[in-house]
Amino acid sequence: MSVICVIGTGYVGLVTGTCLADMGNTVTCVDIVEEKIERLKKGILPIYEPGLEEMVERNVEAGRLHFTTSYPEGLANSEFIFISVNTPTGNNQGGADMRFVESAARSIAQNLDHYAVVINKSTVPVGSGDLVTRIIRANLNNPEVTFSVVSNPEFLREGVAIEDFQHPDRVVLGSTETEAAKKVSHLYTPLNAPIVITDLYTAEMIKYASNAFLATKISFINEISQICERLGADVREVAAGMGYDKRIGRAFLDAGLGYGGSCFPKDVRALAHMADEAGLHPQMLHAVMDINHDQRRLAVTKLTNILGSLRGTTIGVLGLAFKPDTDDMRESPATDVIRWVVSQGAQVRVYDPVATETGRTALIHEGVPMDNVTFCKNAYEVAKNADALVLVTHWNEFISLDMQRIHSLMHRPVFIDGRNIYDPGEMDRLGFIYRGMGRGTTPAPSVLSANDSTTTPNAKDLMQEALIIGETK
Ligand code: UDX
Ligand code: UDX
Repeated sequence: MSVICVIGTGYVGLVTGTCLADMGNTVTCVDIVEEKIERLKKGILPIYEPGLEEMVERNVEAGRLHFTTSYPEGLANSEFIFISVNTPTGNNQGGADMRFVESAARSIAQNLDHYAVVINKSTVPVGSGDLVTRIIRANLNNPEVTFSVVSNPEFLREGVAIEDFQHPDRVVLGSTETEAAKKVSHLYTPLNAPIVITDLYTAEMIKYASNAFLATKISFINEISQICERLGADVREVAAGMGYDKRIGRAFLDAGLGYGGSCFPKDVRALAHMADEAGLHPQMLHAVMDINHDQRRLAVTKLTNILGSLRGTTIGVLGLAFKPDTDDMRESPATDVIRWVVSQGAQVRVYDPVATETGRTALIHEGVPMDNVTFCKNAYEVAKNADALVLVTHWNEFISLDMQRIHSLMHRPVFIDGRNIYDPGEMDRLGFIYRGMGRGTTPAPSVLSANDSTTTPNAKDLMQEALIIGETK
C-alpha cells in the first residue's frame, strides 16, 4: 500500500483521496481553506455526494485518511502527490485559470524533500504537465530532490463519483517518463480497468476531447429537439431509435435545458480557447456552446409564448442543482432561467431537495433580487397559485409527483418540462398546457406544407392558447 497526498478537497480531490484510502492506501488531503479542513476533521463534508460521508468516516476511523492545511504534513513520506485544485474559467477569453495549480506546484516544490510522483488530476490545458515540471524545478527548496510528473485526468460524474472512481471505463496516464506512469498505474490495478499509458499532451487532450464530445452529443440532440418540435416528432423516441446503433449509443442523448456543472461548460470553453490560441477556428465547439445557451433561453420563450408578459406572474421552478444527486450550482440552467424570468417582472417560487443553500448563494452571486424569490419546502408549495411551473432538475422525487394535486394548486396549469420526464399525453389529459423540449406539442397541419402562407401555425396556436388560458380561476 502507498502513502499518498491529495491537494484540494473539492469534488475531485475529496472523492479521489477517500477512494484511494478505501483501497488501503494512507492518504492525507491538503486544502488551503482552514475552515474546510476543520469541518472535514469533524466529519463534515464541504460537498453533497451520495455515499461519500460514510466512506470518509470509515477511512478516518481506520487511520487511513487525514486532513490538514499543512503541506509539510501532507507531503511527508508521500510517494504520490495528486494536484486536484480548481481550474475555473479565467478572464482570458475562456481559457482555464491556472493560478491555483501553479500555486500548488510551488508549495509542493518548497516542501518536497524526497522523490515523489506529482500527478495532475485537475483538468488542465495541454502543456500543463510541462508547466508544473518547470514550476517545481524552479522552486525546489532542495535542488537535489528529484520528481516525476504524470497527467491522470479524472472522469468522475457528480452524484455517482464513487461508482465512477471504483468502476472507471478507463484510467488515462500520460508522462514523459513511462516508468513514472507505470508506478501510478499500480494504484489503479485493483480496479481492473483498461489503463491507457501515453505522453503528457495526449493524456491532457483525452480529457478535453472526452468532455467536449459528450457536450457535443448533448447539443446535437438539443438541436434535433428543436427540429422535432417544428416537424412534430418526439425527440425522446428519436434518441431511443438512434441509440440502438452501437456507433451512436443512447447515453448523453437526453434533450433538455442543456448541460451545466463544473466541467462541460468550462472545459468546452477552454478547449475552444486552446484551438483559437493555436490559430484554428473551432466552429463545432462554438456551435456546441451557442446551442447550449439557447436551450436555456427556450424555456423562457415557451413561457412568454403562452403567458405573454411575465410581469406580475408567479413562476414555479422545480430544481436548482445543475443535475440530480448533487448540490452543485456551478453553471446550472436554473440560475439563468430564474434570473431571466425575474428580470421580466415575475415572482419565483423554487424548491430543490438539497441545493437550497448553494442555490441561494448562486442566485445572490448572479445579482438576482432575492425579494422576488421564495424558497419552498416541497414541489406542492411551489405550485401554489403559480401561473406556470418549469422543471429544471430531474430529481427522482419530481418524477412521482401527484400531478392532479399540482394542477389543482396552480393558478394557471402551464407546465414547461425542461428535462422531458413527464408523458405529454398524460399531462394533456390532466389539463396542463404542457411543453416538453422537442416533444409534447402537435404542430398545426400547415407546418407540414411549407408554402402555405395563410397563417403561421405558431401565431394561430399562440392566440388559441392565450384565449384558452385567460383567467382559469
Ligand atoms: C476539479 C478541477 O478543478 C477541475 O479542473 C476538474 O474539471 C474537476 O475537478 P473540483 O474538484 O470540482 O474541480 O474543484 P473544487 O470543488 O473547486 O475544489 C478545489 C479545491 O482545491 C477547493 O477545496 C479549494 O479550496 C482547493 N484549493 C484551491 C487548494 O487547496 N489550493 C489552492 O491553491 C486552490
Ligand atoms: C461530467 C462528465 O460526465 C465527467 O466524466 C467529468 O469528469 C466531469 O464532467 P458531471 O459534470 O458531473 O460530469 O455531470 P454529467 O452527468 O456529465 O452531466 C453534465 C451536464 O449535462 C448536466 O447538466 C446534465 O444535466 C447534462 N446532460 C447530461 C444532458 O443535458 N443530457 C444528457 O443526456 C446527459
